[in-house]
Amino acid sequence: MTSNRRTFAIISHPDAGKTTLTEKLLLQGGAIHLAGEVKARGAARRARSDWMKIEQQRGISVTSSVMTFEKEIDGEVITFNLLDTPGHEDFSEDTYRTLTAVDSAIMVIDVAKGIESQTRKLFEVCRLRNVPIITFVNKVDREGRPLFEILDEVADALALDVSPQNAPLGMGGLFTGVLDFASDTVTRPEGGSKEFLGKREPLGDLPEDLEEEIELTKIGYPEFDLEAYRNGDLTPVFFGSALKNFGVEELIEAIAKWAPPPRPQPAGEEQISPERDEVTGFIFKVQANMDPNHRDRIAFMRQVSGTFKRGMKLTPSGLGKPIAVHSPILFFAQDREIADTAFAGDIIGIPNHGTLRVGDTLSEKNDVRFTGLPNFAPEILRRVVLADPTKTKQLRKALDDLSEEGVIQVFYPELGAQHIVGVVGQLQLEVLISRMEAEYKVKANLEPSPFATARWLKGDDKALDEFEKFNRANLARDRDGDLVFMAKSPWDVNYQEEKNPDLTFSATKER
Ligand code: G4P
Repeated sequence: MTSNRRTFAIISHPDAGKTTLTEKLLLQGGAIHLAGEVKARGAARRARSDWMKIEQQRGISVTSSVMTFEKEIDGEVITFNLLDTPGHEDFSEDTYRTLTAVDSAIMVIDVAKGIESQTRKLFEVCRLRNVPIITFVNKVDREGRPLFEILDEVADALALDVSPQNAPLGMGGLFTGVLDFASDTVTRPEGGSKEFLGKREPLGDLPEDLEEEIELTKIGYPEFDLEAYRNGDLTPVFFGSALKNFGVEELIEAIAKWAPPPRPQPAGEEQISPERDEVTGFIFKVQANMDPNHRDRIAFMRQVSGTFKRGMKLTPSGLGKPIAVHSPILFFAQDREIADTAFAGDIIGIPNHGTLRVGDTLSEKNDVRFTGLPNFAPEILRRVVLADPTKTKQLRKALDDLSEEGVIQVFYPELGAQHIVGVVGQLQLEVLISRMEAEYKVKANLEPSPFATARWLKGDDKALDEFEKFNRANLARDRDGDLVFMAKSPWDVNYQEEKNPDLTFSATKER
């Protein structure tokens, strides 16, 4: 059952068309059409009403975090799990972690703008983990840059081979359709809306200049190579228009045909295969309750192996004792009888009261620890100053909760009573302030701190004790009680590293 899973994300710069493309992909899978229907039977209805209730209670869209849909392609039913990456301008840890839970990605580029800053950053994250990428060059129904320019820019900016799979016949006012190279068929704008409505025609004669451009696009770039794509060295490129539905069908077929099924996941030295019998998975995201009267939150688990069944007992690595997963949330946006079974590659939402944290492993036998979901050393550190000093308890709770969720990191200095929060991007601070106010009724200000970054300390007890004796003013504990060196500058880190060869100063921490 796992070979037909495709778990992927869409990466793009804001405005390139991610939302529009997501909608079109869901439509292809029939998901949007059915999303509002309530005629599911039995287990499916129970599963659905669970999450609908949760959505109503919280006023949040749990389902938009993961969208699951099916489509039959070449006689095989493929299950697609599309994970939403938060659309922030800022790099955030949340986005990074979501990308640890996918096996491949679609990169959407605006044909008039090419590679933009956020695309590049997200791409780098994918590259770190060798996540294979299919490129979708969007908005060819509008005026855009020449094909070669775009193809060469992707190749140069990202150091990737590009392999075009189709080409628009003109753009903007001159747009007359899209030619698919594999089938040599053309999809053309139809009707008043000038959309692709399903008619494919054989390629007839083309104007001379267009014919030359197409010919050069076909022969000027490497042919598609599955291995190179799966290694992250080559990206197949589709031109299209999400808005007008061009290239979308080809894109979804490419994911079905080429994108990898669930991949093994690293657990220390080991690789946990999707074929392993026991259920294992890891939490890559926690979404808190928007209703301050409830403590429930949803932890999103990427299933790595085994067959999950409703009610199953799994042991979270952070807890050590098993929990029964009675009301898992599965994200099928359409009717499905067996909505309480899940396989490797699937995402399960697990309602809990704060017991599950980002980075936790869940397993049947408590014998696996997934690695590679790090906390990053914060690059922005701020002191939290309460507007109303009587609210220290609420503040502590808010900071603990939000760090558990991965919104921020919190550090408690060894000396003094102030709390320090650390983030990787500025936006996280804004989220922190507004959520503290809205959900915890805590008004606080963020003031500069003397520190520029932090390093997790490791070493034997003696070396740590010795260091602690002389550096108490620069030490803090993180939320897990682990010792952290708060550095005033990168120079400070280097200096201490040289002075204390028995200690390691780590810029990431894996739970
Ligand atoms: P995002 O999620 O990546 O931020 O982008 P989104 O899909 O919201 O698209 C951004 C804008 O680009 C939207 O227009 C959308 O309609 C338009 N767009 C997306 N795909 C295409 C396409 O293939 N062709 C053309 N011509 N436009 C496209 P908007 O005016 O900002 O919003 P709206 O009022 O249309 O929703």
